[in-house]
Amino acid sequence: MDTIKQLKRLIECSHKIVFFEGAGVSTESGIQDFRSQDGLYRMQYQYPPEQILSHSFFMKNTKAFYQFYKEKMNCTNASPNIYHIYLKELEMQGKLGAIITQNIDGLHDKVKNQKVLELHGSIYRNHCLKCGKGYTAEIVFSSREEIPKCDCGGIIKPDVVLYEEMLDEEVIEQAIQKIVEADLLIVVGTSLKVYPAKSFIQYYRGKELVMINLESTDCDSLATLMIHEKIGDVLKQLKK
Ligand code: OAD
Repeated sequence: MDTIKQLKRLIECSHKIVFFEGAGVSTESGIQDFRSQDGLYRMQYQYPPEQILSHSFFMKNTKAFYQFYKEKMNCTNASPNIYHIYLKELEMQGKLGAIITQNIDGLHDKVKNQKVLELHGSIYRNHCLKCGKGYTAEIVFSSREEIPKCDCGGIIKPDVVLYEEMLDEEVIEQAIQKIVEADLLIVVGTSLKVYPAKSFIQYYRGKELVMINLESTDCDSLATLMIHEKIGDVLKQLKK
């Protein structure tokens, strides 16, 4: 049986499907991933992008952080693609356990997916480091200031988990719980290079583990069904 038919059968038989995803699910919405050939981390920039996206860099070089962030990470105009829409369909069919995402692009919200756990936060939430006041992404990205500031004068920081920062405990607990309960785990569009996100897969108790990723990863051997294709192409074939 070909891989798409196998995937179709697995989805048909499952009722608590958990998707564990990364930046690869949003490349077809025009958002760069991090580690592909043309990913953000391969870019030549004033500082290495991986360093820019760290807590200490944000605190020490806030201006340079925001220059990069506003130029490269503003995806507020991006639209959901076939993947985000397909997951909404699964949710409406009552087959979706959860979407556990490493993405900060909020594309699932745009199709009103309810079951999203954002491990790395979201560009759509921002807060003042001094008084805690919340700000929208639009305000942050359209700010004429080199560093977006609160009414109280404090610096606004995106609620995006930077390197050296902890993930939200409650989100971690919920993500692990959903993976434990899942009857099918589909890992999609992630290089699985980042801890602790990567480690959550070990909590899966189900029999079949599907991985869909354009390139191979160090974790391919964990998959019982491995598909090296674009997620958009996989879903077009699946929906035929
Ligand atoms: P990566 O850029 O590391 O991995 C994305 C993977 O998706 C790559 O292996 C690509 O081959 C694959 N890919 C790209 N387009 C695809 C497509 N259309 N269909 C299928 N696969 C595709 O991104 P992540 O694994 O998400 O952290 O990176 C994890 C974290 O590292 C990110 O959340 C980010 C970064 O540091 C933060 O921003 C906090």
